[in-house]
Amino acid sequence: MEKLIIEGDKPLNGEVTISGSKNAALPIMAATLLTDEPCVIGNVPLLRDTTTMLELLETLGKSVEVTGNTVTITANGDLNHVADYKLVSTMRGSFCVLGPLLTKLKKAKVSLPGGCIIGIRPVDLHLKGLKALGAKMEIENGYVIAQTRNLKGAHIYLGGTFGSSVLATANILMAATLARGETVIESAACEPEVENLAQFLNAMGAKIQGEGSHRLTITGVKKLKGANFTIIPDRIEAGTYILMAAATKSTITLRGGCLSHLMVLVDKLNQAGVKVVSEGDLIKVMPKRTIKPTGITTHPYPGFPTDLQAQFMSFMAVTPGVSVITDKVYPDRFMHIAELNRMGANIRRDGANAVVQGTKRLYGAPVMASDLRASAALIIAGLAAKGRTEIHRMYHLERGYESLDEKLSGLGATVYREEE
Ligand code: EPU
Repeated sequence: MEKLIIEGDKPLNGEVTISGSKNAALPIMAATLLTDEPCVIGNVPLLRDTTTMLELLETLGKSVEVTGNTVTITANGDLNHVADYKLVSTMRGSFCVLGPLLTKLKKAKVSLPGGCIIGIRPVDLHLKGLKALGAKMEIENGYVIAQTRNLKGAHIYLGGTFGSSVLATANILMAATLARGETVIESAACEPEVENLAQFLNAMGAKIQGEGSHRLTITGVKKLKGANFTIIPDRIEAGTYILMAAATKSTITLRGGCLSHLMVLVDKLNQAGVKVVSEGDLIKVMPKRTIKPTGITTHPYPGFPTDLQAQFMSFMAVTPGVSVITDKVYPDRFMHIAELNRMGANIRRDGANAVVQGTKRLYGAPVMASDLRASAALIIAGLAAKGRTEIHRMYHLERGYESLDEKLSGLGATVYREEE
């Protein structure tokens, strides 16, 4: 195993190119199960999670070819309806093969993904939505066993205690494309990744209206065809690089990101004293000399993304003054606090809130990555901190940040790997 070493307290500069969105690519790749024709998907980030999804698709009967960031997925005989525990348990995103398998094969057996370090993460909304479409669902030995004679369109309210659900919306949306009649999903997730999935499904011949809104109307069709499609840029990767620049008071440029997917971050950064502007295909990040503490509360899109909460906290940890950070999507997503405090941060958790007493200076330390976004937060802290930070359990980062070391080095950071 390797650890990542960062020698911090150096400003970043230059340009970084943003990769395709992991969380758009995962359900879009799962959606290829809905057709027997080939699909060509461009701008797929090459990451541990996308590779896991491709492996899963192969076990389900697809054939996969990867050329650069383009993935071609074709039929390879009959589909298999069983998604095994070994793969699904490693990545929650793989649970979104349930909707496509069920609607295509009329049966599916998909391992329950389980909880993870960021919270309990139930699947009740996925099951509720599929039941409303007429599926019989049972849970046996850790698997969801779903079957139906025919799925039938329905009017479904999909909101939950914590708002809408990204992957539950994806599952029900995909299942409804081949169901008989009309489905309306109320309180659908409207994240750009869900909108991108709906656009891919429409390119395959689905009839979906309301993409990108909280109300999706789907008219079922008999069959879907193959499609050529390009994945949107990763707004969380872009937000992470923007926050690296903010925390190190650096002026950098991002190429290929989509700022309109990040307006809440831009707004919060403006309040804090960091100017973020879009110029054609470029995004420029320009921190002022004095930065002010600013609180955030996470919400479903277009609210502040929970997937940037940890990274924003690192930024606030090096901003003198008090800020309050609240996670309303995953109220337990605070594993990074203890690690940031090891670097000299002063953060106190109180339920779903974290009170950050920002300090001028953090100090490098050995720290442990606990999940993907917490690891990104430790990188931001490491870049801003004085001295050497060692990040252990690097594999979390490899799930979600393409060519991270190269991109950081390209921005002038001193980062390298060492064997544990
Ligand atoms: N929830 C339920 N019941 C359900 C489903 C979700 O109560 O059946 C709750 C969750 O526990 C949470 C809230 O609803 O409190 C929102 O969860 P959501 O279902 O939207 O999360 P997800 O679809 O499982 C995706 C991303 C996550 C991201 C969340 C929220 C993918 C593959 N994953 O997960 O991304 O945090 O949406 O935006 O798209 C990451 O990339 O690091 C990551 C964790």
